[in-house]
Amino acid sequence: MTATGFAIAAGCDVVEIARLSAVIDRRDGFLDRVFTAREQADACRGGLESDDEVVRARLAARFAAKEATRKALGDLRLPFHATEVRTAASGAPELFLHGERSGLTCSLSHDGGVAMAVVVGPRPA
Ligand SMILES: CC(C)(COP(=O)(O)OP(=O)(O)OC[C@H]1O[C@@H](n2cnc3c(N)ncnc32)[C@H](O)[C@@H]1OP(=O)(O)O)[C@@H](O)C(=O)NCCC(=O)NCCS
Repeated sequence: MTATGFAIAAGCDVVEIARLSAVIDRRDGFLDRVFTAREQADACRGGLESDDEVVRARLAARFAAKEATRKALGDLRLPFHATEVRTAASGAPELFLHGERSGLTCSLSHDGGVAMAVVVGPRPA
């Protein structure tokens, strides 16, 4: 509990983009098992091909967001598809849980071969 009277949950994660990209190329079905169709489409926005390095960086950031959400919620077995990062018209990521707005705030970044995500929100009861 904070001095202002509410408890905060936070999670973060970093992902090496080349490592995730290699798994995508090596393991049949990995992409669909981990990422929703919408996440895959968001990652390709701007007309990019699915093997473009920017797309792979975006997917790595979304993978990090899924792990960060597990940490924030304290549910380390949360299925990958339970979490969905949707890209708003502004470009900002919005975190959905089981198809609903999560009430959590998510921020993504990727640079220098690494992608990261931070997820913050009210601590679950
Ligand atoms: C949006 C911005 C802060 C991203 O910073 P960056 O250093 O270029 O890139 P980062 O790797 O740190 O962050 C990228 C992530 O920022 C997030 N992002 C994009 N727009 C955002 C916004 N309006 N609010 C919050 N987050 C945003 C996205 O999640 C993006 O990841 P994604 O491409 O995987 O979806 C930066 O591009 C910016 O300041 N833009 C201002 C407007 C602008 O210059 N637009 C150029 C296009 S015309």
